[in-house]
Amino acid sequence: MKKKTVVLGITGSIAAYKAADLASRLVKQGLDVDVVMTAAAQQFINPLTLQAITHRPVVTAMFTLHSAMAVEHIALAERAALLLIAPATANIIAKIAHGFADDMLSSTALATRAPIVIAPAMNTQMYENTVTQANIAKLEERGMTFVGPGEGRLACGTSGRGRLTELDEIMQAALLALNPRQDLLGKKVVITAGGTEEPIDPVRFITNRSSGKMGYALAKAAVARGATVDLISAPTSLPAPVGINLVPVRTAKEMHAAVLKHTLGCDALIMAAAVADYTVADPAIHKIKKSGEKLVLELSRTTDILGTVQGNFLKIGFAAESRDLVFHAREKLEQKDLDLIIANDITAPGSGFNVDTNQVTLLHRFGQSEALPLMTKEALAHIILDRVKALWP
Ligand code: PMT
Repeated sequence: MKKKTVVLGITGSIAAYKAADLASRLVKQGLDVDVVMTAAAQQFINPLTLQAITHRPVVTAMFTLHSAMAVEHIALAERAALLLIAPATANIIAKIAHGFADDMLSSTALATRAPIVIAPAMNTQMYENTVTQANIAKLEERGMTFVGPGEGRLACGTSGRGRLTELDEIMQAALLALNPRQDLLGKKVVITAGGTEEPIDPVRFITNRSSGKMGYALAKAAVARGATVDLISAPTSLPAPVGINLVPVRTAKEMHAAVLKHTLGCDALIMAAAVADYTVADPAIHKIKKSGEKLVLELSRTTDILGTVQGNFLKIGFAAESRDLVFHAREKLEQKDLDLIIANDITAPGSGFNVDTNQVTLLHRFGQSEALPLMTKEALAHIILDRVKALWP
């Protein structure tokens, strides 16, 4: 299958160095990445870096002697499945908004029919200036997608809105724009993610090693394919995904209540969260002080959310196992009366908690099993959604 081409436009912002990581992530997604750098961008990051990452020539000027054609900007514009500009300065946004074509990047933006995703990065005053805001509004009206900017400390020493947003968020917006597959349109999917936290006292809690990556990957993939997604998330350090209804919870009890509320009228519940099986029976109101050699905590069972939730929707669970993977996962599939369970080998290298890849076996209600190789959590999310889709009547 022919690879899709992303044209990655980089402009002159201090955040330009982050474009190297972005280019690398795009390449890892199996995309061809053609980088176009403005003259100012080249003051911040060397084109050679991008060339080494993408294994393709980097376009740094409108006209170069070795360039095959003076019409390269048209060729680039035509082969782009997506034009992603990150970081985008106020200047490039203004140029695109007013139809300028005096450098390779603005020319490509004017000539392409591909979707355009823009991740602004600039000083807060420049971003909030009514001229910039009007330019952004104009481009949004024309169907371009803006992702970010984020808030925080800026290179100019001030704090505010204007930072290049998280790369995860930019990737999500890019993949969304690239993925024309809208096969889950009209479906409502509820997904849980992360490890619940069970308080011991106001300072300490019991939790597990779930980072939320698997659940968030599922949520992003489902929304990219047109589903409406409620993501019930225990605390994670992941940025809130774009276009998803994020429902933050902390404890197993809160997750239970949120699942009951959000599954009303849904089409599928996918529980990737690592939910505590036990909670502290009587958490202390004040910080527990040191006294004696031992501290005994009494734990009580939490509700098995997936095993007890009722409704006319598909129920999909995960089983994180360190031994007898398929045996224990099938046991859970039957006990919890699930349609599908993802048996997650947490001992395999690169699989399970807090990594970007996973290795699983899918077990279906009626006996079929499907052992999958190690792959990114994004790729796995799409396979799981393919199987869920096939189960809908
Ligand atoms: O978040 P990551 O770092 O990306 O890691 C991903 C993961 C390893 C957490 C994920 O892929 C995974 O395997 N999640 C399930 C972990 C787990 O707790 O499994 P379990 O075997 O304890 O539970 C079985 C199923 O019942 C799970 O779907 C769980 O969400 C659900 N459950 C468990 C306990 C409980 N009280 N209520 C539940 O609904």
